[in-house]
Amino acid sequence: MSIEEIKVEQLNIDTFVAEKTAEIRSAVGDGLAVNALSGGVDSSAVTLLGHKALGDRLKTYFIDNGLMREGEPQFVVETFKKLGIHVELVDSRKEFFAALKGLSDPEEKRKIGITQTFYKDVFARIVKESGAKFLLQGTILTDVEETTAGIKAQHNVLAQMGIDTEEAYGYTVLEPVIQLRKPAVRLIAEALGLPKSISQRPPFPGPALTARVIGEATPERIELVRKATVIMEAELAEVPHFQCMAILHEDRMTGIRDGKRDFGLQIEVRCWDTQDCVTAKPARVPYEVLERLADRLTSEVPGVVSVTYHVAKKPPSTMEAV
Ligand code: XMP
Repeated sequence: MSIEEIKVEQLNIDTFVAEKTAEIRSAVGDGLAVNALSGGVDSSAVTLLGHKALGDRLKTYFIDNGLMREGEPQFVVETFKKLGIHVELVDSRKEFFAALKGLSDPEEKRKIGITQTFYKDVFARIVKESGAKFLLQGTILTDVEETTAGIKAQHNVLAQMGIDTEEAYGYTVLEPVIQLRKPAVRLIAEALGLPKSISQRPPFPGPALTARVIGEATPERIELVRKATVIMEAELAEVPHFQCMAILHEDRMTGIRDGKRDFGLQIEVRCWDTQDCVTAKPARVPYEVLERLADRLTSEVPGVVSVTYHVAKKPPSTMEAV
């Protein structure tokens, strides 16, 4: 079934919100629903739409998969508390790392490590225990297009990949913002009262820091890239951009530390300018900023001896390295 796009210039916010809340109410009826909040703009907008539609009959969960950025679970719980929405924090770190063990192919990491664990294990259990029959999630049109085109299997695209969620996981997935792209979702998020810290947030991929580790995503390698991400985000904060990322490579590089050979690690930094993620250009980061970033990464992240800046456009690159 093809999805009819609602372009940002066609979007009537009040009508959209009224229609989608009515659709959610009519699908869920007297029952219960749950939703997965990641703290990104898409799932945050859906959380507010869902609560507008269902009130207390929607329970919101943040799954701590151990793959998020520093302080992320606490930031999300606190932000939504201020909006009057209780977010249940679920510690699933062990489950995700166990599923990711031994996987180094990017699509296997997405499909087996993230998608299966998220929907088949963690959410199937939550749905069963809560008595809900519906899962609300923030899939957007771009996620569907990239997945069906075979570019990247976005972790949250299911029906369009032939997955019958009722049969496979025991619940129905509702996707109220699937006709929109990011700029339209930002408008809905703002209209629903989300703070700018969420509505204007740069995107962060569903597979989280696993997408930023080339090869196996072990707890140690994830921790390393998490440290690098904090430093990179701080140093690039003043540079206008859409999304930036620090990527830990699998190859080792010869370095020198304290006069001795150090066969160390390489971090690649990407910083993108784009409107729609379909095409993107590397931002022109001032050289002094890159230099300071490299100094900090090599001195503050254990084992890093090499830092590179990605300069190729999308296409033929993609924004994430894997
Ligand atoms: P690419 O790498 O495809 O990225 O050029 C385009 C945008 O999509 C994000 N991205 C993902 N988001 N699940 C997500 O939710 C994924 O599997 C995924 N892969 C890429 C990426 O961060 C960028 O904003």
